[in-house]
Amino acid sequence: MTRHLLITGGAGFIAGNLVHHWAATHPQDRLVVLDALTYAGNLATIGPLIDAGRVQFVHGDIGDASLVTEVLQAQAISHVAHLAAESHVDRSISGPGAFLRTNVGGTFTLLEAFRVHWLAKGSPEHWRFLHVSTDEVFGSLEPQDPPFSESTAYSPRSPYAASKAASDHLARAWQHTYGLPVLVSNCSNNYGPYHFPEKLIPLTLINILLGRPIPVYGDGSNVRDWLYVHDHCRALERVLLAGEPGSTYCIGGNNEVANLDLVSLLCDLMEELAPDLPVRPCRELIRFVADRPGHDRRYAIDASHIRRTLGWEPQVTVQEGLRRTVQWYLANRGWWEPLLSPEYSGYLEAQYGASLGA
Ligand code: NAD
Ligand code: TYD
Repeated sequence: MTRHLLITGGAGFIAGNLVHHWAATHPQDRLVVLDALTYAGNLATIGPLIDAGRVQFVHGDIGDASLVTEVLQAQAISHVAHLAAESHVDRSISGPGAFLRTNVGGTFTLLEAFRVHWLAKGSPEHWRFLHVSTDEVFGSLEPQDPPFSESTAYSPRSPYAASKAASDHLARAWQHTYGLPVLVSNCSNNYGPYHFPEKLIPLTLINILLGRPIPVYGDGSNVRDWLYVHDHCRALERVLLAGEPGSTYCIGGNNEVANLDLVSLLCDLMEELAPDLPVRPCRELIRFVADRPGHDRRYAIDASHIRRTLGWEPQVTVQEGLRRTVQWYLANRGWWEPLLSPEYSGYLEAQYGASLGA
């Protein structure tokens, strides 16, 4: 059966990768992307698929109820993968309003419009709404704590995490109250191609290439569980196609790395793979800068539920995934160089001070 899949935020990092994955693995499905093209959205990520007529692109806001309703109806959408969001913790600290508007208000608008659309079509059983969320809703772990799982209580600690937690609650409430076939996934930190330069891994790679300082918050001992984005896309595909409506799936890489170790690995890989670096050894670029307010110490995911129920496991080790990522940024300067705009330099300056700006 042909699915009509709406991917929100499809010009962003993870959803852009998901668009590529879905186009390659489900050629019979109709693909529609709705994206507001905020600073984090980049049409170049999915441009070739749009040009080839493989993806219908709609420029708009998930908080625009009449637009969302029109897209659902006109495209006869049967499946939604909802990834549109404000996603950067540091920006949520300096400007939380957009996070509340998009992550909470936008998710509400989308859920409600999909519910009305689903009801109007007689509540088809095979329709699905996948709400894609983060492990940050669970709070912060101490070094000896067991990893987060589906039964971990919510304890969000940043405006970003709080807004995602609120949207997760909405998604589950729409399933529980209205019977809408909603699934929720909570994933650990992703990395890979098409990652906007503000996040730690692309920021480090690009700063090394430009000979600029690498900012490490605090003492660099905070730990994240890194997952290669293609593995996340495979997990989202399994959840959307075979997940149980009403269920939650924790997705993680089983790859806990402290930030300073991660940056050091990236320095080694760049020295091996990139010719003509402006500064060698790259480690000389590392700068310990003021810590992020409320910086969560450690995230880690126990992904045994999705492994057991849906047979998903990560396939890419962190060593291999980081190597592929470095190679991708080296081969795709044309994708990231235009993102280093005056607006982005202004962000860097406000976030890190003049020494790390353009
Ligand atoms: P991103 O910031 O790279 O992309 C977000 C996309 O959403 C952009 O294309 C942007 O233009 C679009 N967008 C923002 N506001 C919008 C609005 N109001 N209407 C329509 N489109 C809008 O994000 P990402 O890092 O790829 O994250 C995607 C999703 O996955 C988010 O929901 C995030 O919470 C979740 N997630 C991310 C990670 C991670 O490591 N990046 C991990 C787990 C979960
Ligand atoms: P980030 O990529 O922003 O993801 P998240 O905050 O969602 O985990 O950051 C990953 C880790 O790297 C996090 O512990 C914060 C840290 N970090 C730095 O040390 N320096 C930086 O410049 C950035 C952006 C992040």
